[in-house]
Amino acid sequence: MQRAEFTEVWKSTKKLNKVVLAIMPTPVGKYNLITLEWFMRTSIKPPMLAISIGHTRFSYECLQVGDCFNVCYPSGEMTEAVKICGTQSGRDMDKLLEIKEDWFHGRYRKVPILKNAVANFECQLVSQIRSGDHTIFIGEVKYSWVNTEKELLFL
Ligand SMILES: Cc1cc2nc3c(=O)[nH]c(=O)nc-3n(C[C@H](O)[C@H](O)[C@H](O)COP(=O)(O)O)c2cc1C
Repeated sequence: MQRAEFTEVWKSTKKLNKVVLAIMPTPVGKYNLITLEWFMRTSIKPPMLAISIGHTRFSYECLQVGDCFNVCYPSGEMTEAVKICGTQSGRDMDKLLEIKEDWFHGRYRKVPILKNAVANFECQLVSQIRSGDHTIFIGEVKYSWVNTEKELLFL
């Protein structure tokens, strides 16, 4: 065991990484998607999920004005979508159009549900906590959707 710089030690803790897409309304009535590896479940009753978003992201701006987001667990067929949503900014493009995934409006606030995903969780934004250069957005799950025919994507 030896002491090392944080990033090096952190990298050593992962092999396969689970990622999600968060989808939220934009200030102009469209939808934005972002790829995230920093997320977790934070409550059993009611079910709650937390996502951590950097302050430079367009998604951060969106969540300053919106009150909801969907957490979408991508299937193995969605690598291209995960790549686009994790490398392009919604400031420069409409990622929902760009990823060419089938979707329908959710029940809670109409935020898109991606049909090819393994699971989608519609969340109401209930609180946010600043954490260094990111903010943790906590959502209460209002509706959940599952696709039992799909396998989860690991990066
Ligand atoms: C595998 C992967 C995981 C990522 N995880 C996070 C994350 O947890 N939080 C975050 O703020 N950005 C994360 N990013 C970076 C954003 O997805 C990326 O900056 C995105 O282009 C931001 O889009 P936006 O400007 O439309 O919000 C990740 C990117 C990749 C490829």
